[in-house]
Amino acid sequence: MVVAVHDIAQRRHSILRNYPLLGHLRFALESLRPELQQYFIERNFDGRPFDRDTRSIVYERAKGTAAEEPFGTELDLYRTGSEYLTPSMSPRAVPAEPPRVRIGGPDCTRPYDMALLNVSAMSFGSLSANAVLALNTGARLGGFAQDTGEGGLSDYHLRPGGDLVWEIGTGYFGCRTEDGGFDEQIFAEKAAHEHVKCVSLKISQGAKPGIGGVLPGVKVNAEIAQVRGVTQGQTVVSPPFHRVYTSPRELVRFLARMRELAGGKPVGFKLCVGSRREFLAVCKAMLAEDTTPDFIVVDGAEGGTGAAPLEFADHVGLPLGEGLMTVHNALIGAGLRDRIRIGASGKIATGSDLVKRLLQGADYTNAARAMMFAIGCIQAQRCHTNTCPVGVATQDERRGRAVDVGDKSQRVDRYQRATVKSALQIMAAMGVDDPRGLHPHMLLQRVDPHTVRSYAELHEWLEPGQLLASAPTSWATDWQAADPDRFTR
Ligand SMILES: Cc1cc2nc3c(=O)[nH]c(=O)nc-3n(C[C@H](O)[C@H](O)[C@H](O)COP(=O)(O)O)c2cc1C
Repeated sequence: MVVAVHDIAQRRHSILRNYPLLGHLRFALESLRPELQQYFIERNFDGRPFDRDTRSIVYERAKGTAAEEPFGTELDLYRTGSEYLTPSMSPRAVPAEPPRVRIGGPDCTRPYDMALLNVSAMSFGSLSANAVLALNTGARLGGFAQDTGEGGLSDYHLRPGGDLVWEIGTGYFGCRTEDGGFDEQIFAEKAAHEHVKCVSLKISQGAKPGIGGVLPGVKVNAEIAQVRGVTQGQTVVSPPFHRVYTSPRELVRFLARMRELAGGKPVGFKLCVGSRREFLAVCKAMLAEDTTPDFIVVDGAEGGTGAAPLEFADHVGLPLGEGLMTVHNALIGAGLRDRIRIGASGKIATGSDLVKRLLQGADYTNAARAMMFAIGCIQAQRCHTNTCPVGVATQDERRGRAVDVGDKSQRVDRYQRATVKSALQIMAAMGVDDPRGLHPHMLLQRVDPHTVRSYAELHEWLEPGQLLASAPTSWATDWQAADPDRFTR
């Protein structure tokens, strides 16, 4: 009895707060032998999105217990597809302060300095109130940004005082007219909030490109219904497409309008890349209208979700590497790259993940699921059922209370800090003290048992303005066919 009371009252372990006594089984097995833990606890997670080692890294960094490991790598470095970051014979010192990335093109009057790693979009609705509070408080402590996700701007996002990227999706939650359209006035009022630093239009996300967000009815309680402006208890399915644009030109104009309504704050859009031709059409529209978004977030097909059909998660959309390189090269080739910053998300959890994405064309990164791990997610994969065992992805208040905001927000802060530090240490070992010094030749990939090639050799990298001057043969057909007034494939 005493133990049970202690379990419920303590703040460190969410699993014990929700499963007093029983939850000790997990820790008992963990302490006995890793193999036992793997058999009894992890066996359900075979082939699940994040492997155990990656999760352990996040947990340890979040708890502040990360330590050096003895003996050396357990990876098979000769496996085809293995990647190697290249150390320099002349390493640099690690910068004392992590660099930040200025977001704000020529039309932006209130630029924002983004951290190298931020909290990716996850809405209040998919996450519990305490989870949102912990993430935002962590963002405030560490000086990084939290993306609200498409479920609206709630009090839980605003109260702690962390920087926010306010995302709207096809449901325009939080700035929705009665018939489900975009309400300019409400958007302008909310975007003016001092903690909203950037605004973002979600076109698609990697786990389910081409279909709208889904919030299962079991998670739509009275509060969620109020924040989103929808009916309690009913599954919320956002439309697959936006009402505010039907062509690349209209998209670009709408983004400019969003920035205007947001009082000059940076505007961007998020997408999982599909057709290169369509993206080039958007670049042509930017050139024709002479207006650009301030940032674009590329989400990889490996990205996560609170709820999506498996077929979409598995088979639709480009993985992050290809998506990033497409967007980066298209913007360079169109002479637009210096006006637009690129964010990247998709299974970014460690410093080396971060460095690889910067090498492939990103300026900064966002993490969703790794941040969930930092606040106690054990990858039970029950986000869509409202029965998350650790209170992270549920609207069940009783379960949600397992997330102790004070403890978990510090974990978010520690995790982000340690991961950025690790990225900077890796860069320094590569002879680079500023992310802008990273180059595709610094990342190698084993393409067969006997051959290793650099990203510079394996992929095509355009010169600034090359598409405008003379598109290389490999890009010419798409570039010529791209139409700023139509999304043609
Ligand atoms: C629980 C959950 C909810 C999400 N909700 C949104 C959302 O509202 N809007 C959005 O753009 N992406 C959403 N995403 C996608 C993430 O922002 C991110 O792009 C994707 O998961 C890749 O990052 P990760 O691999 O670090 O999780 C969600 C992801 C998760 C796991």
